[in-house]
Amino acid sequence: MLDFSHGGNVYLFAEKLGCKPEDLIDLSSNISPFIDKFILKETQNYFKFFQFLPSSHGYLLKKEVARQYDISSDQVVLGVGTSELIKNICFLYKNRKCLIFPPTYIDYEKYATIYSLDINFYYLKEEDEFELHWEKIDFSKYELVFICNPNNPTGKVIRKDELIKVVSLYPDTLFVVDESYLPFLINEDEMTLLGTEYNNLLVLRSFSKIYGMAGIRVGFAYSKNAGLIKNIERYNLEWGISSISEQIGMKLLSIDTKKIAKQIDEIKRKFFERLMQLDGIKVYPSDTNFLLIKLLEKDSDYVINELLKEKILVRNCKNIRGLDDTFIRISVKEEEKMDYFIKVFERVLNG
Ligand SMILES: Cc1ncc(COP(=O)(O)O)c(C=O)c1O
Repeated sequence: MLDFSHGGNVYLFAEKLGCKPEDLIDLSSNISPFIDKFILKETQNYFKFFQFLPSSHGYLLKKEVARQYDISSDQVVLGVGTSELIKNICFLYKNRKCLIFPPTYIDYEKYATIYSLDINFYYLKEEDEFELHWEKIDFSKYELVFICNPNNPTGKVIRKDELIKVVSLYPDTLFVVDESYLPFLINEDEMTLLGTEYNNLLVLRSFSKIYGMAGIRVGFAYSKNAGLIKNIERYNLEWGISSISEQIGMKLLSIDTKKIAKQIDEIKRKFFERLMQLDGIKVYPSDTNFLLIKLLEKDSDYVINELLKEKILVRNCKNIRGLDDTFIRISVKEEEKMDYFIKVFERVLNG
């Protein structure tokens, strides 16, 4: 049985350590720590919505998403997190040929396996710094291609013009471009494929990451292809997203995410510089809010266990296809947490 476990399992580790989840320093999930305090407070006013069903397939929230990104409501489908959409897409393409670029987000393979897709892997190579060179790929062989942009866990982004080139060259292949971490880029607007009009392009977005609200479980997909959107929605529960999540989602769309992106980017730059000064690791430059690290002298289980003793959680990458037990991934959180992490990490590396 393949291991498709994720980071961010604070409940499990809190139980193991006999502490509260909030006592942990969770650098294992790529969720912004900068939650909008005003909106968090306002959520209390939304409890009254529990007495109503949410709108059918969240059409109130869909309308707001469409307005925000200047697209049409029938080009948007919501999901219980982006996760539900990945699952539905795989269901829609069951038994068909798909392409995945490891190391990447493991749910593409997870749901492709569950729905018996014919999975093909094109590995990003360590010696190429995990950059994607796809000039030699004949995409016409695949009906479905997952592209994580920026890629989790490598943090690398692919330019919009490069993406558009392949999408336009292979009209019979559906390209799913997962932009869950794109809002962490300062130049997000120049990079996004939201609003780009190709029938064979589907863009995924998550409310979990940039808004720091993974618990509300909201994500959405955009495609010019309203037929495809409708098809994906057919497999959603009509009221899968709760009425309170729908209300919070509408409010979150008003947040200026550029401010959050800038704040995290500044912390990341300083953190990266400090990591570069440590012996025994290689750090991969990242375009987004997490960093992939190769351990040159220790293995990931050892490092993770030592960090856990100080209540720090990082992502063990040993179950990510294309990586092994020499890789960990660190998410960028508040500056003081990163300072504390560096101190402990240096001790662990020298231990
Ligand atoms: C690349 C990527 N896509 C999608 C998801 C799923 O996010 P959610 O279901 O919370 O929207 C994750 C979560 O880690 C992710 O890393």
